[in-house]
Amino acid sequence: MISLEGRKVVVTGATSGIGLALVRSLHAAKSLILALGRTAEKTGALSGALPGIATFAADVREPDFAKRLLAAAIEQIGGCDVLVNNAGIVWAGPAERATSEKIAELVSINIESPFKVAHEAVAHFKKQGSGHLINVSSIVGLKPRIYSGIYSGTKQALEALSESLRQELARTQVQISCIEPGMTLTELHRGFKEHPMKAMQVTTPLTPQDIADAIVFTMTRPAHVTIANLVILPKDQKT
Ligand SMILES: NC(=O)c1ccc[n+]([C@@H]2O[C@H](COP(=O)([O-])OP(=O)(O)OC[C@H]3O[C@@H](n4cnc5c(N)ncnc54)[C@H](OP(=O)(O)O)[C@@H]3O)[C@@H](O)[C@H]2O)c1
Repeated sequence: MISLEGRKVVVTGATSGIGLALVRSLHAAKSLILALGRTAEKTGALSGALPGIATFAADVREPDFAKRLLAAAIEQIGGCDVLVNNAGIVWAGPAERATSEKIAELVSINIESPFKVAHEAVAHFKKQGSGHLINVSSIVGLKPRIYSGIYSGTKQALEALSESLRQELARTQVQISCIEPGMTLTELHRGFKEHPMKAMQVTTPLTPQDIADAIVFTMTRPAHVTIANLVILPKDQKT
C-alpha cells in the first residue's frame, strides 16, 4: 500500500460532496493538497476549515484552466502525484426539456474541462516519470438510465478517455483509474424536482465518504496494481 502522507494530490470539485469528503480524508492522512473550488469564497471557507491546505479558485470552463491548475500545483504544493478529476454537474429530464444552453453546459463542464485537465496531468506525469489520474465518472457512464441521456453521454466520454489513456500508458509508471459511483447523497441533485432516492428507488444512498474511501483505496494500491474501474453502488440500486 502506498502511503498518503506527503503525497501531492490535486482535487477538482473539492468544495462539496465527494470532493470535500476526499479532501478531508487526505488532510487527515497528511497529504499535500491543492483543492479546486469555483469561487474564492468557497476555497476560503475550505482553507479555514482545513489548515495547511492549498486552494485554487476558478470555474473549470475558464480558458487555460487546466494549464493554470497544474502550474498552481507546482507552485503551491511542489508538484502533482495524483489528480482527481471530480468536478461535475448533472441534468435529468425528458429530452424536449433540455435547452441547448444546458446541453452546452454539461458538455463543457463534464467533458471538455476534464479532458483538458486529463491531458495536462498526463503530460506532467510523463515528464516526471510517474503519477495517477483518477477520473470520477458515474454508473450511468457504463449503463445509461432513462431521462439521463446527456449526463450519461458526458460520463461515457470520460470512460472512453480513461480506458484509452490506460492502454496508452500501460507500460509506463503512470496510472489511470475511473470511478463509477451510484446514487450518493450530495448537492449534485439540488435542481431535481423529484428526490433522487425516490427517482432511483434507493432507500439507503451512498455517502460522500463511501466514495472518498473508494478513491483513497484506488490511490494507495501498490505500483503493479491498477484499479482501472471501480463501481460503487447502494445495495438496493437496480438501475
Ligand atoms: N452524487 C452522485 O450521486 C454521483 C453519482 C455518480 C457520479 N457523481 C459524480 O461525482 C462528482 C462529484 O459530484 P458530487 O456528487 O460530489 O456533487 P456536488 O456536491 O455538487 O459537488 C460537485 C463539485 O464540482 C464543482 N463544480 C461544478 N461545476 C463547476 C465549475 N463549472 N467550475 C468549478 N467547479 C465546479 C462544485 O462546485 P460548486 O459547489 O461551486 O458548484 C462542487 O465542488 C461529479 O463528477 C458527479 O458527476 C456523483
